[in-house]
Amino acid sequence: MKIYVVKDYDAVSKQAAEIISDQIKEKKDSVLGLATGSSPIGIYKLLVEKYEAGAISFKEIRTVNLDEYKGLNELNKNSYHYYMNDNLFSKVDINPENINIPNGMAVNAEAECARYEEVIKSLGGIDLQLLGLGENGHIGFNEPGTPFKVRTHVVDLTESTIHANSRLFERIEDVPRQAYSMGVNTIMGAKKILLIVNGAKKAEALAKVINGPVSTEVPGSVLQTHPDVTIICDEAAAAKL
Ligand code: F6R
Repeated sequence: MKIYVVKDYDAVSKQAAEIISDQIKEKKDSVLGLATGSSPIGIYKLLVEKYEAGAISFKEIRTVNLDEYKGLNELNKNSYHYYMNDNLFSKVDINPENINIPNGMAVNAEAECARYEEVIKSLGGIDLQLLGLGENGHIGFNEPGTPFKVRTHVVDLTESTIHANSRLFERIEDVPRQAYSMGVNTIMGAKKILLIVNGAKKAEALAKVINGPVSTEVPGSVLQTHPDVTIICDEAAAAKL
């Protein structure tokens, strides 16, 4: 694993945005695996700036998002569809047909998981997967205890994740209890992985991801076994390394 400790959130965003824009320049039809949450917002802002400056184009880029809440449609402000449109897709020249996110409104959950896996396969796999890290060590919505062999699945969110994510909802009761998520196995299939981590709240989880035993109790620790992982974290998140 290549590990970079930089000063703060802005520095994490800057370095990660460079890596993603290099990937786009190198392969203009790259398959980018994307994440939501607070961590990537700065990256998406910088990618939009690079697009506006004419440095990169998303015209042929294909995307697959890690996850989506079950039961939220794309017009719901808390859905990850909405987040992606708001932070990136509506601001760049991506072809809507090339955007893939699990359908939170699918009637048949099992069929939706199978469809999503088929989509990733048909794209030829993920070139670069961007990941954030949960305070409990989760990646995607793969909570502690999830077997590493799992592919796209429906997840029961843990109380700690519901609590962490409730900051974005009006009331904690509004946070969905379930989500669709790529499984650990799906994520590990990406050719390259970029993990971004900031803030003291993540310090313990990051230390376990990097130095702890590889264990399903800390889903992110599986990254130790991937051949091409880059971790960019700020000083606060690196405090326990
Ligand atoms: C988001 C995702 C999650 C987040 C993680 C960190 O698509 O899959 O694993 O990356 O919960 O969230 P933030 O960045 O909000 O701290």
